[in-house]
Amino acid sequence: MMKMSTFVLRRGVPALLAVSLFFSCAQEEEMEPYESDGITLAGSFDEYFDIGAAVALGVNSFDSFNTYEDSLLAEFNSFTAENEMKPSVLRTATKGFSWSAADRLVAEAASRGARVRGHALVWHSQTPDWFAKTAANKEAARQNMKDHIEAVLARYDENEVYCWDVVNEAISDGGDYRKTDSPWYTIYGGPEYIRDAFQFARDANPDVQLFYNDYNIVNTPKQDMIVKMIEDLNLIEDGLIDGVGIQAHWNINNWPSKDTIRNTINRFGEMGLRVHITELDLTGRESEQPLLANRYRDIFEVFIECSEYIDSVTFWGVADDHTWLNSHRGYPNFPFVFSEEHQRKTAYYSIRNLVE
Ligand code: XIL
Repeated sequence: MMKMSTFVLRRGVPALLAVSLFFSCAQEEEMEPYESDGITLAGSFDEYFDIGAAVALGVNSFDSFNTYEDSLLAEFNSFTAENEMKPSVLRTATKGFSWSAADRLVAEAASRGARVRGHALVWHSQTPDWFAKTAANKEAARQNMKDHIEAVLARYDENEVYCWDVVNEAISDGGDYRKTDSPWYTIYGGPEYIRDAFQFARDANPDVQLFYNDYNIVNTPKQDMIVKMIEDLNLIEDGLIDGVGIQAHWNINNWPSKDTIRNTINRFGEMGLRVHITELDLTGRESEQPLLANRYRDIFEVFIECSEYIDSVTFWGVADDHTWLNSHRGYPNFPFVFSEEHQRKTAYYSIRNLVE
């Protein structure tokens, strides 16, 4: 907020006042507003895939659209709500709907000519207990799921939210269905809830693209099980799934390897699925930051190689001043290509230079 008002005031009030305001603000924050050099990430990667960012709209008290300069947000042509389209935010305790933050994202994206990736319809986390955990029985839970998916897809058409993570994180790291820690699996007594979710979404709007989304997909047992799930539930044969979202919460050092990333993307691509990189951030200690630029370059080299399968690459945030990794990991992270001060880092150029 301060840097925006500094910027506006510098242009809008008499010079002396502007200068003194500038210095008092600069002493406190030393932040210059983001200035584009005329080239954006989204523009640079235009012929390959969308470049997206997760944005926050007030939940957890951070507001991306009030924090980031328009010119910084213009680096992206796709947005995902970090929390505001999850059941926990869309649904109140009384089972009503609360659309205001999600509506705002859709409006902000439209005014910027950006697309919206919907995240997420059915998940074991950030979902009020009444959906499944405390539902009377399977039929009641199934009806809650159906009502939710139908309402959300009626609210936003395919031009407003062009795709959805229909089911998020249904597979365990060990390579089995997430069972006791999924209220959906528990009340259904099996994985049929996954197929129901895709079927309800497809029936609600056949023009919306439907994704299965998960983390650690690069790991063999989990990846094999995701493939098995898609096959066992006949999601491709029955035309219920369009693609897989690879969350890409990866490490700044060497996990996963370029080969592993390439093989993962190609495996789903060769199944006939579209691939979205949905939640890219690179965790690591501050001392490891010198690795970031080359690591991002390596990762984007693979994305470009595999771009026939990839339609979208979304960072799980905009700049280093707001990342879920700080609380998730318990130490400060600097996982993006824009700094805490909203400036381009070396890593920014290491990916943009691959295509410029
Ligand atoms: C995270 C958000 O970034 C946090 O603000 C929130 O407190 C917890 O959820 N996988 C997902 C995302 O699919 O929805 C999660 O987002 C990160 C892990």
